[in-house]
Amino acid sequence: MQNIILTGFMGTGKTTVGQLLAERLQRPFIDTDDLIVARDGRSIADIFAQDGEAAFRAWERTVALELAQRQGLVIATGGRLMLNEKNAAALAASGQVFCLTAVPQTILARVQDETKRPLLNVPNPAAQIQRLLDERKEGYGRFRQIHTDGKTAGQIAEEIIVLVRGGKIMGFLDIANRLHKELLPGLRVQSFWGEQMLVITVELVAGTIVPQHNHLHEQAGTVISGDLSLTIAGETRRLKPGDAYIIPGDVPHSAEAHTDTRLFELFSPVREEYKY
Ligand code: S3P
Repeated sequence: MQNIILTGFMGTGKTTVGQLLAERLQRPFIDTDDLIVARDGRSIADIFAQDGEAAFRAWERTVALELAQRQGLVIATGGRLMLNEKNAAALAASGQVFCLTAVPQTILARVQDETKRPLLNVPNPAAQIQRLLDERKEGYGRFRQIHTDGKTAGQIAEEIIVLVRGGKIMGFLDIANRLHKELLPGLRVQSFWGEQMLVITVELVAGTIVPQHNHLHEQAGTVISGDLSLTIAGETRRLKPGDAYIIPGDVPHSAEAHTDTRLFELFSPVREEYKY
């Protein structure tokens, strides 16, 4: 089984998305930074400070070549590991590579309270992020791009699962905000059309108290404390926070074909408006 390899700049969500992917696909997860720290016994900041960046990059080459010999893994790589040609060639030959992207403001917001990244531990991290992004633009541009701004980790993981399975993303039906406002505070739903499937991701924000009775009850299934049951194509599934429901490939992907799905009825008032 091929590996799934995530690359991209620091703070684009490689580790968080990788963990979710591994969980949902039931595969082992490996973060190259964590592997290096475990092997070396020191933090990345200490390796940089005591032995210099070159020593850390040597560690990256060792683990990249080693992981490329294994199969069926989800691998989150350190932000620069795949920009080394030999590392990239070895790992790309072992599986599919996806590059997570985010705008500099998002990256800054995600990394600013952390001190574990020595390259961003500088007086002006915003300028440093921009400088490194410019320097690495071409390198990251060689891989399949996954935009992460405005999406949750669960949504990004689902998008990658569709691509790994050979599907193609045709467009997004981003109804999250509408549902958020109109139905339940704390419920986030995003769906998108894949070439062979309609993917619906439902996430309940942790701590949301879901009322027993509301209009979701009639339209989309039964809401039970904190969890949501949805009836899709005659089948009822209990969705827990972070879960996703994927309608299999044999369901035709025209809107009308889904009129029997109660979840789709829930989407129908907004679907044309949001489809592109
Ligand atoms: C680095 C990214 C970090 C880590 C090290 C250097 C980089 O990994 O490997 O601090 O040069 O981009 P993350 O992208 O997981 O933060």
